Amino acid sequence: MKKIHAAITGVSGFVPEHVLSNEDLAKIVDTSDEWITTRTGIKERRIMREGASSDIALHAVQGLLKKTNTDPLDVDLVILATVTPDFPFPSTSNVLCDKAGMTNAWGFDLNAACSGFIYALSTGAQFIETGRYKKVVVVGVDKMTSILDYQDRTTCVIFGDGGGAVLLEPNEEGLGIHDFILRSDGAGRHYLVQPAGGSLNPASVETVENRMHYVKQEGKHVFKFAVTNMAEVSAEIMEKNQLTSDDIAWLVPHQANLRIIDATADRMGITKDKVMINIQKYGNTTAGTLPLCLWDYESQLKKGDNIILSAFGGGFTWGAVYLKWAYNS
Ligand code: UT7
Repeated sequence: MKKIHAAITGVSGFVPEHVLSNEDLAKIVDTSDEWITTRTGIKERRIMREGASSDIALHAVQGLLKKTNTDPLDVDLVILATVTPDFPFPSTSNVLCDKAGMTNAWGFDLNAACSGFIYALSTGAQFIETGRYKKVVVVGVDKMTSILDYQDRTTCVIFGDGGGAVLLEPNEEGLGIHDFILRSDGAGRHYLVQPAGGSLNPASVETVENRMHYVKQEGKHVFKFAVTNMAEVSAEIMEKNQLTSDDIAWLVPHQANLRIIDATADRMGITKDKVMINIQKYGNTTAGTLPLCLWDYESQLKKGDNIILSAFGGGFTWGAVYLKWAYNS
């Protein structure tokens, strides 16, 4: 019997209409277009004024089901990666399944911050590879503005809202997900965190007054770890699969900072024309960046292309996925 791989057979994304530019931010906090552009590569980001993460996910999933001609009732499982769920519980995956009519599916949320999509993709792939399921939807979505402090210039300029979804189906032609390396180090939890709202610091007047429900980041520290680990794990997955830089068609890096993306591509020996970049228009959408990249670049992808996805984020979490693209669009 031929080995079953989990192949991405469709991708769709959604970003809210409202654009917040660097110039707009400079009117709110002490920053400038020059600082944001040179330090991060971001020019603008999208802001969701009404609705929740499940609504971003719903737009993406409706687009996905339509373009892949999939009946929502045929979806077996929905794994949704996010750090901005609609509620602490029930899960946003449950909400999404209801809204999108995927009522035969079960699902769950997965929290691995910016690495959420590769964690979820690797997890979803297992259910396909075992032959257990035929259709798994993997979503990466975040409404980061729901946890951003617009008095903190070190974080509010970086993040934006958006997300995307892919369909995983079995493939017996050797296309699809071939390998993944996933890592975590909880010692990094202090450097990128939303301190309140969980069981350690439940919501109280004090947590609100101390602005503890917002993202806190020690940027320099996270940067150091991100540069090293994202580059290393991307090189490691290439070596493990005997891939040279010539073999790679595309690098799909988490969009946190153009300097981290460049360092990863350099370590892999990959030229800039093979690197998916959309940070300039969406900023860092946390779990949303990787499916949004695939969505933006889908028309350029060819069946059989070797693609490496890699990410680093809060936790710390990081990793890389190696896949062979399964279709021409
Ligand atoms: O996606 C999850 C993982 N997250 C990441 O990978 C993010 C990793 N970190 C980074 O991308 C970068 O560290 C940042 C973009 C967050 C910051 O860039 P940096 O080059 O590390 O700047 P810095 O934090 O060292 O700050 C340099 C200066 C400081 O001023 P002083 O102390 O030198 O006077 C900051 O106060 O820039 C100042 N600064 C700003 N200035 C204008 C910080 N934020 C801003 C701002 N506008 N928005």
